[in-house]
Amino acid sequence: MTRIWRFALAWVVCFVGSLALAQPIYKDPTQPVEKRVADLLSRMTLEEKLGQMTQIAVSKLMSDGWGLGPLKAELLERYLVQRGIGAVLSGGGMGPVPNTPRAWAEMTNAIQRVALEKGRLGIPSLYGVDAVHGHNNLVGATLYPHNLGLAATWNPALVEQVARRVGQELRATGTLWNFAPVADLGRDPRWGRFYETFGEDSLLAGSLVAATVRGLQATQVAATLKHFVGYGQPLGGTDRSPAFLAPRSLQEVWLPPFRAGLEAGALTVMANSGSVNGVPVHASRYLLTEVLRGQMGFKGVVISDWNDIDKLVNDHKVAATFADAVALSINAGVDVYMVPMEADRYLQTLKELVEAGRIPRARVDEAAGRVLWLKFQLGLFERPYVEVAEAEKIIEAQRTLAKQAALESITLLENAAFTLPLTNVRTLLVTGPAAADKTMQMGGWSIDWQGKEGAKAPGITLLEGLQKGAPKGVKVAYADPRDARALAATARAADAVVVALGEKPYAESEGNNLSGELPAEQYKLLRDLKALGKPIVLVLFAGRPLVFPPDLWLTPKAILMAYLPGSEAGSALADVLFGRYNPSGRLPFTWPRLFAQVPFTYDRYPDIYPKAEPLYPFGYGLSYTDFAYRLQAARATPNAVEVDVEVRNTGKRAGSDVVQLYTRFPPLGFLAPRERLVGFAKVNLEPGQARSIKLIAPLDRFALVPGDVFSLETPRVLPGRYVLRVGEQTVAVDLR
Ligand code: GLC
Repeated sequence: MTRIWRFALAWVVCFVGSLALAQPIYKDPTQPVEKRVADLLSRMTLEEKLGQMTQIAVSKLMSDGWGLGPLKAELLERYLVQRGIGAVLSGGGMGPVPNTPRAWAEMTNAIQRVALEKGRLGIPSLYGVDAVHGHNNLVGATLYPHNLGLAATWNPALVEQVARRVGQELRATGTLWNFAPVADLGRDPRWGRFYETFGEDSLLAGSLVAATVRGLQATQVAATLKHFVGYGQPLGGTDRSPAFLAPRSLQEVWLPPFRAGLEAGALTVMANSGSVNGVPVHASRYLLTEVLRGQMGFKGVVISDWNDIDKLVNDHKVAATFADAVALSINAGVDVYMVPMEADRYLQTLKELVEAGRIPRARVDEAAGRVLWLKFQLGLFERPYVEVAEAEKIIEAQRTLAKQAALESITLLENAAFTLPLTNVRTLLVTGPAAADKTMQMGGWSIDWQGKEGAKAPGITLLEGLQKGAPKGVKVAYADPRDARALAATARAADAVVVALGEKPYAESEGNNLSGELPAEQYKLLRDLKALGKPIVLVLFAGRPLVFPPDLWLTPKAILMAYLPGSEAGSALADVLFGRYNPSGRLPFTWPRLFAQVPFTYDRYPDIYPKAEPLYPFGYGLSYTDFAYRLQAARATPNAVEVDVEVRNTGKRAGSDVVQLYTRFPPLGFLAPRERLVGFAKVNLEPGQARSIKLIAPLDRFALVPGDVFSLETPRVLPGRYVLRVGEQTVAVDLR
């Protein structure tokens, strides 16, 4: 090789070598994430690692307290550079001033710039929000039905589409950590967070949790399975009161939706603020490490809920000091503390505990390493900033998608004398507290935590929807429900009355309701309307099943459950009421006659004494057409039970039906649910059309925990004859 070539080769080697030396491994995107994490950790001080285990509220960067306003340089410097805090969040309702897409993008970019340019190692910051039914902190974002309504669609593909859309909006505004989906089950309607769940069944909820995780993370936004675990069965139904779960119930009912979310690749999990069997979850090594990591194989980040390590001292009273609480919780398995206001005290305490050996340094490396791993997964090191113009463009009304979600959620509960659809009506009277109050169609977590500012979100009320969507020649008149005279006068000329009742918005414990009743004046309104003698259509906006006095319930000729349908409530309900859309929603929960029956779910153990039946069963919903099933065959395969069903639309209108496959269990020596959903499919059929579908029930849906009272075994399928049911038809299949 000539001298010149040798020289050239030497030069190239030196140049590449110098590059490698200049570019640390953690900044090299071609390196495996594990190597980048290890390299970065090796360069970090203890304080820097502890900073990555900490998340503060964005208001701390604005006012060093609760006040919102412009970010302050000295606060950014103090918390993001000096303390090296690696994550920030918007508590319900926190955001930039003004609250616009541009301001959100500028705010997260400003935070990022300080972290990257002033942070010694340039570790990007991660911003978290509760986008639980749209980018709901941001004024201008479209709001979708809350999870309870999405569950009534029984449509995982639609739910995934909504989540992907929300993820795009979150990504565009630099908020890459979404504290959603709720994977808790709604099995006690007294609970203030019932509407945040996908209902009472772990297969339906698990399918929708997984769909939400896929949708969000497809846009490189981290999903959060919350609140791990057993949060949905608080004793007495009030939020955050203790839960007592039998080991078999934990395994058979409460863990499966989280398992479905983990199988979909969820990157983070949030711990439950409450307690299980006498142990606050934030202090439970069994749940946060042995079960979540050991049994379920979770590798991502566990974040606390709001201030929940402090709650171990002040509320649960299981720790004498804050230091004891921090040691208990971090060693149990919490990686990041969501400590909105008191980060200094937390960081100081954490450092002292590590130096005193009460928290192993290996535990710090594990927790901080998971956070770094998460930030690499989200591409934050390569793409830390957002395009402000992109944020402005993407937050545009998603009316079609929001309307589709609302349409498919609306559930028809009663339709006496085919009152609906309203076809031979010339004058329609619309009234009721929810007819023109946008906050009632949005629910909690809408612009602010309790949803009191939900009217700022874009949307169309029921009244507006009916006025805009009325067929030619139909007059829609409104009367204020509080004005009995106007009501009576307007009703005289009306052919029918649409009355909208429901719940004012709420979140968390503010939403506890032990009776399931509405305010008395709403029942009074229904009575007054009954006296006017016109056909009544009742539309309910609620985050739970409601209880009506028996004499009132059948006053309305038709009843629609709209849940909390979000921005397109009015346009969707108008289409259903005027017959442009055939309602296809199916209840994702059991509707009790009285809350005294609660907890009262379809998969309860066999009733020793016949319990009163529910008002409407899980999976129930009427249509403007009819469907018939013909169970054709069932066969067991190595991983599933397959059932062929012919579904026929025997009515005069097109419509969608949700075919549901349930199993009954053989006698196994211990109790089994009276029935369990093992498969479902939604089919759209033209009048007279029939279609054969194959329902595939994963074998693990037949698994139960064997053993005696405190059995700690994991669920497994036990051999025997299982009776499968679709509608009124059954077929048996033997499982080995
Ligand atoms: C709340 C909720 C939790 C939410 C968190 C941050 O207390 O329990 O669901 O993600 O705080 O807003």
